Amino acid sequence: MTPGIPGFAPRFPGVTLERVQSWLPTIGRAALVLAAVVALLVVVSSLLRWKAPRVHWYLFGFPLLRLRMRHSWRYLCLNADLTGTDRPTTGQLGPLLVKGRPIMPVLPLLTRIRPRSFGATAVILLHPGQIPEPFVNAAEAMAHAWRVHAVRVDARLRGRVRLTILTADPLTAHRTEAAAWATDPPRKPAAVTSHPTDATTEPVTPAAAVPTDLVADVGHREDGQPWVIDLATFPHWLVTGATQSGKSTLINAAVARWAARLIALVGIDCKGGMELAPHAPRLSALATDRAEAADVLAQLVTETQRRMRLCRQHGARNIWQLSERLRPVPVVVVVDELAELYLVASRADKDEALRATTNLLRLAQLGAALGVHLIVAGQRVGSDLGPGVTALRAQLAGRICLRVNDEETADMTLGDLYPDAVEAAQQIDPAVKGIAVTTADHAGWIRARSVYLPPDTLTAVINSTAHLAPALPGLTPPA
Ligand SMILES: Nc1ncnc2c1ncn2[C@@H]1O[C@H](COP(=O)(O)OP(=O)(O)O)[C@@H](O)[C@H]1O
Ligand SMILES: [Mg+2]
Repeated sequence: MTPGIPGFAPRFPGVTLERVQSWLPTIGRAALVLAAVVALLVVVSSLLRWKAPRVHWYLFGFPLLRLRMRHSWRYLCLNADLTGTDRPTTGQLGPLLVKGRPIMPVLPLLTRIRPRSFGATAVILLHPGQIPEPFVNAAEAMAHAWRVHAVRVDARLRGRVRLTILTADPLTAHRTEAAAWATDPPRKPAAVTSHPTDATTEPVTPAAAVPTDLVADVGHREDGQPWVIDLATFPHWLVTGATQSGKSTLINAAVARWAARLIALVGIDCKGGMELAPHAPRLSALATDRAEAADVLAQLVTETQRRMRLCRQHGARNIWQLSERLRPVPVVVVVDELAELYLVASRADKDEALRATTNLLRLAQLGAALGVHLIVAGQRVGSDLGPGVTALRAQLAGRICLRVNDEETADMTLGDLYPDAVEAAQQIDPAVKGIAVTTADHAGWIRARSVYLPPDTLTAVINSTAHLAPALPGLTPPA
């Protein structure tokens, strides 16, 4: 009888030393093959990561992320308080009603983990009684556990939250911005007329189709979508950012888009008109100090009142319900440096400031349905500008917060609508210009980066579209 392996034989009586010895060459060969396969995979993976990062992501990165997500889900839920329960959390102990945490928590279901070019998306199904807030708060914990750049939690759906998982910050990548901008397909020109008379009676078009030409794509969002300022969705916008954070660059990109369509552009730049000077040939009016701003804004209020009468006369609730022949041109008013309108040094300033800011607020209140839109930019928006600024902000539903120097401005820009976006805005890297936290669509926010137009590209666009500048009643274009 051949000797068995000591301590091994009782459990595996058939396994003898000779047999194990006879397997050794096979085991050695298998190990060699395995090592070769692993080495090949490592080489292919690094080559792909370098040459075809997207393929690498789908073949290697995503499966690994998925494993990590599945593996860490239980710990994550327990540590970040994301568990639910299928038992009551209160019970009766004699005459006492006791409340406590369930010993057997139930994990919410992490499902639909799908690869995307920017990373992945997934859905978490909530248990009855669970609210999305802890998931929004756990975004940072998820990003750490899964070793990704960021996790965005969209809590707008009922009973579930949607995760957008970003593997890297797409906004810091170097891009040939101007080239991308130039190759963009031109938009259809706006089908609008200039100044119809009040007297005409024209039937109202039944479908109140808001034209898409109020959309300006101004860059790209971190989820790979184009970043658009859509005046049809949000008629007015507030843009905040410290000096050199990218306000003018963003405004340039938007103006260059709108310039190519039949839209009247009005500039209010109380710092002597320096910031908006490049747009001057395409502007229908430009105010360069506060007195001029007050006059221009007063004329625009008169214009909105005229449009209101026109709509009333034709039974329309907004200018888009008017027939194309009657419809007045949309007006976009760009205000650079809001504080210049509000801050007062003397008593004489006070009346002028009041006149300018009251008219600005009236435009914000009336303009939305009448095709008068505001893009209001400022370095700081805070309570020190006076109580009027909060009333104005309430009308500016579109929000863009570039890098700001103080928490109050980030909070004023985003905090009332998207409290969780304030922190994201404060984390904007000052080294990378043009990054912003912006209103995404009807609700929700996202990070985005504007496109940078070199001055000569902007000048070329403005000059080639200068002839489109519509005349507005009571206003004279800049000389
Ligand atoms: N999206 C961007 N991409 C690249 N560079 C940018 C971007 N936005 C701004 N910059 C750079 O930052 C500088 C300052 O931007 P600017 O728009 O003038 O800031 P602000 O008007 O807020 O003071 C610009 O001259 C440009 O070089
Ligand atoms: Mg500027």
